[in-house]
Amino acid sequence: MSAVTPSLTIAVAKGRIFKESLALLTAAGVAPRDDPERSRKLILETENPLVRLVIVRATDVPTYVEYGGADFGIVGKDTLLEYDGDGFYEPLDLGIARCRLAVAGRQAALTTNERLRVATKYPEITRRYFEKQGVQIEIIKLYGSMELAPLVGLADCIVDLVDTGKTLMANGLHELEQICGISARLIVNKAALKTKYAISVQLLTQFERLVT
Ligand code: PRP
Repeated sequence: MSAVTPSLTIAVAKGRIFKESLALLTAAGVAPRDDPERSRKLILETENPLVRLVIVRATDVPTYVEYGGADFGIVGKDTLLEYDGDGFYEPLDLGIARCRLAVAGRQAALTTNERLRVATKYPEITRRYFEKQGVQIEIIKLYGSMELAPLVGLADCIVDLVDTGKTLMANGLHELEQICGISARLIVNKAALKTKYAISVQLLTQFERLVT
C-alpha cells in the first residue's frame, strides 16, 4: 500500500504584498485555481494538487505557521519583527514588496523637550528602536492611517512603512530616521519540514531559484 502524500498549505498575507506574492506563487507553479479577488473561498486549490493557499491578514500569517494551521507563510519582515514567537524558520528573503520602516513626522518633530509621543501599529519595533537611542517615548497604538496622528496633534511622529514616500509628502510629513529595510519573507513551520519533507524541499528549492 503506498502512503498518501500530505498536501502543503501556504498562508499568504492580504494587503500590500499580496499582488507581488501572487506573481511569485504563479512563477513557482502554485497559482490559485480561483481568482482570489473574487472567490469567497477561504482555502484555495492551486495548479499543484499538493499545494493550497489560505489568504489571511498579514499579522495572522506567523500565527498560522507557528501553530501548523499553515506549513509555509509569505509575510512582510515588519510583521515578523513585531511578532512575539519563534515557532518557525525564516529561510528565504523573497526580495519582493521592498520598502522601509521609518520614523516620520513634521520636520522638527524629534526636537520636542517633552516625552515624545509616537503613533504606530508597530509598538514592539518602536519601543526597541527608541530604547536603543535612549529616548523616552509614549506609544500610541493605531491600526492604520498613521499619517493622520501628527496632523491632528495625536502624536509628535509616527513609525510606519514608507514605500514611494507619496503618502508622507501628500500630508506634509517627512521621513526623519530610517529604522530598517523591509521585504517579504518565506516562513516555514518547523515540523512541516520533517513531516512533509519532499514537497517542502521541492517548493523551497523552487522559491530559492526564483529569488536568487
Ligand atoms: C502603507 C503605510 C503607508 C503607505 C506608504 O499603508 O502604512 O501609509 O503604505 O506607502 P507610500 O510611501 O508608497 O505612500 P497601507 O497602504 O499598507 O495601509 P495601512 O494604512 O492600512 O497600513
